[in-house]
Amino acid sequence: TPPLLIDTDPGVDDALAILMAHAHTDVLGLTIAAGNVGLRHTVRNARTLVDLVGKPTPVFAGCPTPLVRLPEEDAVHVHGADGLGDVGFAEPKAVAADEHAVQAILRLTREHPGLTLVALGPLTNLALAVRLDPTLPQRVERLVIMGGAVTGLGNTGRIPAEFNIGFDPEAAHVVFESFPRFDLVDWEVVLRHAFDDDEFNGWLAAGDPRATFFEQVFGTARAFNAKRGRRGVIAADALAMAVAIDPAMVTRMEERHVAVELDGRLTRGATVVDWSARLGKPANARIVMSVDQARFGAMVRRALGA
Ligand code: BDR
Ligand code: CA
Repeated sequence: TPPLLIDTDPGVDDALAILMAHAHTDVLGLTIAAGNVGLRHTVRNARTLVDLVGKPTPVFAGCPTPLVRLPEEDAVHVHGADGLGDVGFAEPKAVAADEHAVQAILRLTREHPGLTLVALGPLTNLALAVRLDPTLPQRVERLVIMGGAVTGLGNTGRIPAEFNIGFDPEAAHVVFESFPRFDLVDWEVVLRHAFDDDEFNGWLAAGDPRATFFEQVFGTARAFNAKRGRRGVIAADALAMAVAIDPAMVTRMEERHVAVELDGRLTRGATVVDWSARLGKPANARIVMSVDQARFGAMVRRALGA
């Protein structure tokens, strides 16, 4: 497995993805976006995670706001006011680096050609990085993005928009237009790959410190899902991470051109997929349609030390 550079806005499912990454391969750094909660919290949460995994993974703070418009929503109702379930963890020991996340993305991709870039939050840092250095896509072997809702089944107030794309549509537009090829793990494939509640609870009960940690931070999200009558454990960013680590787990994918709606009255932030190839544009996205659920489960288990 190639080393990973992870752009993220932790975030409960980001946390699981970060644990998974550290359990399976080298993590060159965590570049931090605002999204689920404000940047102050997402940076701190990343530092908390670095303490937990016990590896000296550098944390780089990135952009505090989207590129153009201020966000219309956050995800406090899912992830808690602090983004990690409001558990009240002590001040983490790991410190954030001085270098800006955008500079770190440019430097680390130069130092480690062939790395896999995994984007688990709004794409603000990545968009700015590619604007600063348009050659960035040439030295990224693979980009895996968690984002979008490919048939319009979104999870935000603007119905067809998924959170990561809806939070900063202009950034997503820049990234989708600049990278000739990326893997897209959208919200809909995530919904098709939820875990059985009892099975997941069994992993959490295994007693590893990572499982205990996740059990704690998962409380708010679990209550939110229960209130919505949702069964099963949805792990969006963990699915994207699993695909980044083990591309062979993908059982079906579709190569299509994907664009981002920037103006729609009801649809700003929607991902528009050219399903019937009418635009004549080359496919930029490999849309993951399904994965081997048992393999995904095994990777989550290992992330939790179960
Ligand atoms: C995405 O939004 C965030 O709340 C999650 O961490 C995930 O990255 C799902 O739409
Ligand atoms: Ca996220």
